[in-house]
Amino acid sequence: MASVTATRAEIALATPDARIDLAARSVAAQTERVDLDKAMAGGATIAIAANETLPAVAYHSVRFDGLRPDTLYAYRVMGVDGHWSEWFQTRTAPLSGPIRFIYMGDAQNGVLSLWSRTIRAAFQAAPDARFMLHAGDLVNRASRDAEWADWFKAGSFIHAMVPAIPVAGNHEYDQSAPGEGDRMKLLSHLWRPQFRLPVDPGLPAPVHETAYVVRYSADLDVFVLDSNQRDLAPQAQWLDANLKMSKARWRIVTMHHPVFSSGGDRDNKTNRDVILPILLRHNVDLVLQGHDHTYARGLLDANAQEPRRRGFAVGDKLTTMFVNSVSGPKQYQFRKQGWDDYAPTGVKLERQGENGQFFQVIGIDGDRLNYTAYTTDGVAYDHVEIEKRGNAKRLIKNDKDVPPTRRFDNTLPYKGPNF
Ligand SMILES: [Fe+2]
Repeated sequence: MASVTATRAEIALATPDARIDLAARSVAAQTERVDLDKAMAGGATIAIAANETLPAVAYHSVRFDGLRPDTLYAYRVMGVDGHWSEWFQTRTAPLSGPIRFIYMGDAQNGVLSLWSRTIRAAFQAAPDARFMLHAGDLVNRASRDAEWADWFKAGSFIHAMVPAIPVAGNHEYDQSAPGEGDRMKLLSHLWRPQFRLPVDPGLPAPVHETAYVVRYSADLDVFVLDSNQRDLAPQAQWLDANLKMSKARWRIVTMHHPVFSSGGDRDNKTNRDVILPILLRHNVDLVLQGHDHTYARGLLDANAQEPRRRGFAVGDKLTTMFVNSVSGPKQYQFRKQGWDDYAPTGVKLERQGENGQFFQVIGIDGDRLNYTAYTTDGVAYDHVEIEKRGNAKRLIKNDKDVPPTRRFDNTLPYKGPNF
């Protein structure tokens, strides 16, 4: 509510003591006013929702500094009339050591009615997840506050306990005026106020808070790209430089538009021209994507001879693993020719799926990365491990008990796009 012009949050160590609140420290929030039905573009005010009159509201953000690594904290935030939220527990990142996290593709539609079961099932499958990575299209209409309200309600206290790493999809952008096309593509005016993501001065201003890196621990760096940009070159340069400096044992890149498409007749050639060479140059381990409303996992073995040369006993050759996934109810047909068109790159499609909502649990433990894709009923749909020695990697398959490939013709009837 815009009536709250200043507020605060409190944080305390989450010890077993009954009154942790008595030892809490208080931090003032930064407040900004946002017109829910208007956004700024090129210095001009633009109506986002022409048919609605929505109020101005205040967004508040707090930065807690000086926290200890791998430590359980409790925090609460103050709202209208000085009322406090409940205390939420959350654990800070470790300096190193085993962690698990959740990755989800597009939520986008039916977010409260049908996506809620995915995020809740994901939390049940991995209650110790350190963060949730949302690979874009979190909602359908970028600047509709009601859709974001559904997104926050669907995850409820999970969003408050498990930090989010959000990726901007095409549905996080609005076209501000009909007929303006990409020229006037405008990031949702709610994105920055509600997420408060890292600003990297090495990136151009239009992608601040949609392209960023999370250096989570000595074992993991996560690079987030904004694949909506027509010119990906500045992000490619930034990624190249940052991967070169990265000392993390595992490096993951995430963006909305897939390098290798799986939905319908889609294709994102620019990603292969501009981003793929950098992924290969730096031997990126895993690329997590959305957009295509199907499930796809495959491997690129462009440096297939490398592990053999190093004497690593190779089961399956591997450079980089690519995943496209979907967590919401909107579903597309899998590309008829699969990834055959992409065969010249050396990529191989290993597992695919249609007509399902998925979430992924990814664990990192020293030289092993454990990857499982689940359907929303909590059943493992796809499971592999990657083992590393030096720069060599191998894939360990564990697909004995996975269900048959999901296809539109062997699953329940599907109907879109109204959910
Ligand atoms: Fe989407």
